[in-house]
Amino acid sequence: MKRMIFIATLLLGVSAAAQSVLSTDNTSLVIDASQGKSPKILYYGAKLSDADISSLISSGFASKDAYPTHNKNSDNLEALSVRMPDGNLSAELNVVSVDTKTWEGGKILSVLCKDPVYPLEVRLIYKSYDNEDVISTWTEIINGNKRKSIVLTRFDSGSLPIRRGDVWVNSFGGSWASEATLTCQPLGPGVRSIYNKDGIRNSQTSHAEVMISLDGKPRELSGRVIGAALCYSGNYELRFETGNDSCHRFYAGIDPSNSNYTLAGGECFVTPELALSFSTEGLSGVSRNFHKWGRKYKLAHGGKVNDILLNSWEGVYFNIDEPEMHQMMKDIADMGGELFVMDDGWFGDKYPRLNDHTSLGDWVVDRNKLPGGVEGLVEGAAKNGIKFGIWIEPEMTNSRSELFEAHPDWIINAPDRELVYGRGGTQLVLDLSNPQVQDFVFGVFDDIMSAWPQIAYIKWDANMHVPSQGSKYLKNQEHLYIEYHRGLAKVLDRIRAKYPDVAIQACASGGGRVNYGILPWFDEFWTSDNTDALQRVFIQWNTSYFFPAEAMGAHIGSSPNHTTGRVIPLKFRIDVAMSGRLGLELQPSAMSVKEKDMCRKAIADYKMVRDVVQLGDLYRIVSPYDDKGVSTKLYAAPDKERAVYFWYKTEYFRGDYAPVALLAGLDPEKNYRIRELNLVGRSLPFDGKVFSGKFLMETGLNIPDRNYGGGTHRDFASHVLYLVAE
Ligand code: DGJ
Repeated sequence: MKRMIFIATLLLGVSAAAQSVLSTDNTSLVIDASQGKSPKILYYGAKLSDADISSLISSGFASKDAYPTHNKNSDNLEALSVRMPDGNLSAELNVVSVDTKTWEGGKILSVLCKDPVYPLEVRLIYKSYDNEDVISTWTEIINGNKRKSIVLTRFDSGSLPIRRGDVWVNSFGGSWASEATLTCQPLGPGVRSIYNKDGIRNSQTSHAEVMISLDGKPRELSGRVIGAALCYSGNYELRFETGNDSCHRFYAGIDPSNSNYTLAGGECFVTPELALSFSTEGLSGVSRNFHKWGRKYKLAHGGKVNDILLNSWEGVYFNIDEPEMHQMMKDIADMGGELFVMDDGWFGDKYPRLNDHTSLGDWVVDRNKLPGGVEGLVEGAAKNGIKFGIWIEPEMTNSRSELFEAHPDWIINAPDRELVYGRGGTQLVLDLSNPQVQDFVFGVFDDIMSAWPQIAYIKWDANMHVPSQGSKYLKNQEHLYIEYHRGLAKVLDRIRAKYPDVAIQACASGGGRVNYGILPWFDEFWTSDNTDALQRVFIQWNTSYFFPAEAMGAHIGSSPNHTTGRVIPLKFRIDVAMSGRLGLELQPSAMSVKEKDMCRKAIADYKMVRDVVQLGDLYRIVSPYDDKGVSTKLYAAPDKERAVYFWYKTEYFRGDYAPVALLAGLDPEKNYRIRELNLVGRSLPFDGKVFSGKFLMETGLNIPDRNYGGGTHRDFASHVLYLVAE
């Protein structure tokens, strides 16, 4: 009898607080926000009905702290730790009220908690994006004592208990030219930390996104998976904790090392958004949710296809020269491209930018290189019928620059310490916590756009970390990492308010700024300085876990490749670049007529399929990590009327046979006519033929391990198949 009453109470507790269930189209989060108790998470996963919620309780699910604090849970890690004005290190959060409101994409649930003794308030916020199956969370931490400060020593955005079992995590970490390398590991006892302390390029090493498989080693097309993305442009730490109870705990937030935050009396600290998505359709299912969400809410001009461009960097490096710029514009226009971007090397007066040792900050045209100025190039682009874009690195300077000579106090460096230089042995970071520096950085952008309003695209680069923590502007040095990003956000807000239409690329030594915390101001990112098509199969595969092809700059580079020296046929280079936002990163004058023809044809075909690739639903099928010798993926239009299938031979050994090519994501009831794009030599037997979606997904195609007509060379065979329902 006693037991029945206990269950009834629990049921009442949850159903009475109906607002503690937040559901999207296919997922639910159940929060136990009982008044006077610490808030708890009971469940996150597939959508539950009211009846299911009752079953959840009787099935024995235990709820766990939604936002663990230090001391109350001293045997666990904490999401929040503080130092109270009197030195007390503990914080206790009890629910005071729960509030739900709707917004156009879903609901927002706020759980207000208070410490019973100290004037500390924490609001846990959960926001649903219903159609995209994303639920995000963040907190507002409020110091209610008007006179005395509270020091925050850990202030995560959120925490999620995950039932223990065969739980695996995919994380993405690398280095320059090897960004987003996949690590796939089971969770075991102890603490696993994924962090970035660069200060600026917060995805060059570890990414702030993870995939958590609840059903053992993750699969692409099936299994229960949670994806988590911390949307923050600065230092972060994601932690997995496995202790001695029935759950793993996941924590994500700003990295507090050397960043204790002193919360002044009355101040409210808002943590960055942590986005979660759940799918029963495996890793690719979560990716599709994040792609839809990213396009709709987290990318500038998301949902609009991006232009096909030629970028000058690997073509000419710093040797910008007017006739060559005109020649490159003519060449990309001839091949059907839509945009030319003049990269680094166009600026500097007293210190011309001949290499990476000088000039950042001196954003004046180098008239020796460009006697006709940028206006001449903008006109040239218009004559060729293409758009013009330009490179800047506005957060930085060099010790050899007029800017540094005028404002040596504007740079970041610890006081009374030798200057720590970055790239070129002279690069320094401007202190964006300083409002004067914010005005300067905004002015760089504003001056360029005012002088040449026809500019359609800005490549915004950042090639250095915060080297030595110290601001001449800030009183509290511990705030520097956070204030830098607040300053950057203010600048980007001003830029977007004045220039809402210009396309901006986030580049940071390649893929150093691939994060949903910064992307809302940017249209796309430069995925990596590594343009080697083989390594790009891997980098783009991993980057696609959270970011859509629309935003993923993928350029055809030269052969041998400038980073790896690898020799790769143009066909393979084209086929890999076509699976992202297509571009070129080479000097077209070094291409043969035949190569230009191939690119011209590929660009025309890309225009035909671009909406499917950039805006479609991605099904990753065979991973390049599975050692099958191939990697395959497919983009399907939302109505499944069209699809594009990519097949790459990633390694060749005589006698090894690649698996039959099974497609995914098609409508089994539809019939698709297949057309091979970028065909080299003889067509394959299925080219031009019609197959049912069911056949293609269950029986598949037999794709030979070479391109007919491509010689005997079997490494780097590749095929792009365009499927149209009829
Ligand atoms: C690093 C970028 O990733 C490159 O694409 C190029 O823009 C260089 N910087 C220019 O210095």
